[in-house]
Amino acid sequence: MMEKYLEGKVALVTGGTKGIGYATAKRLAERGATVVINYFKSRDAAIVAVDKLKELGSTESFAVRCNMAKYEKVPALFDEIKDRLGKLDIFISNAAMGMYSDMLDVSRRNWEVSIDTNAYAFLLGTQCAVPIMPEGGRIIGLSSLGSFKYIPGYASIGVGKAAIENLIKYFAVELADRKITANVVCGGFIDTDALKLFPTYEKIKEDVLERTPWGRLGTPEDLADVVDFLASERSRWITGQTIVVDGGNSLL
Ligand SMILES: NC(=O)c1ccc[n+]([C@@H]2O[C@H](COP(=O)([O-])OP(=O)(O)OC[C@H]3O[C@@H](n4cnc5c(N)ncnc54)[C@H](OP(=O)(O)O)[C@@H]3O)[C@@H](O)[C@H]2O)c1
Repeated sequence: MMEKYLEGKVALVTGGTKGIGYATAKRLAERGATVVINYFKSRDAAIVAVDKLKELGSTESFAVRCNMAKYEKVPALFDEIKDRLGKLDIFISNAAMGMYSDMLDVSRRNWEVSIDTNAYAFLLGTQCAVPIMPEGGRIIGLSSLGSFKYIPGYASIGVGKAAIENLIKYFAVELADRKITANVVCGGFIDTDALKLFPTYEKIKEDVLERTPWGRLGTPEDLADVVDFLASERSRWITGQTIVVDGGNSLL
């Protein structure tokens, strides 16, 4: 039985239907939080996920469909949380999409998709979350190694992730007087649907297994456990930081 140190807290996990977001939503529910998830295309998966969260004790869980990159849609998600649950303590900006290409081939559309679903969604979500977030609140973004090192084909997504890691430095300072922290979990390669979309998926997997000192890919739970820590009171003195969670892959 897990210690329920998030009892009484309300959390939102964007993109909570699968992969890292789903693992995170489950972990926060196990900690006693009431967890709201967001999704875009996977309605059936959202229904299954909410049932699971309820089973884990988050009886007031619900899912909201919203494209997190659309400024005209996102405020309604936070209004619904305020109306139904009264507040939001923990905002996990996990949902993201991207288009793959080399940097010199990045099209306008590619740039928009990668930057908007990564950086803009995080900015906009935080702008909407803060007014309903009490003291002790937590803002947490998800990034990846492509924010600081070259990953073939990851060009515009890497830039979007770098922006996320910079946004939290500004949030951390500007939200300090509200006693809200802002941090990022930067994950190594995790075998989710997103990774399978990579044109060079099989090669990436092979390289990662070879180059990671721990000799395996990461799991969604490897990241969810760090998000769990950052969401807790134990991380109160950490703000504006990016924590790399990659089994040592980026060291080699
Ligand atoms: N996999 C990795 O190796 C890895 C490593 C480090 C960091 N990350 C980051 O971790 C996060 C989750 O990645 P993942 O691998 O778990 O991805 P995933 O399995 O593809 O899941 C992505 C989730 O985001 C949702 N989503 C996508 N675009 C959305 C949008 N515009 N609005 C709302 N929801 C949207 C999806 O919902 P629908 O299915 O309903 O559209 C889905 O729930 C991402 O930020 C990713 O960049 C991944």
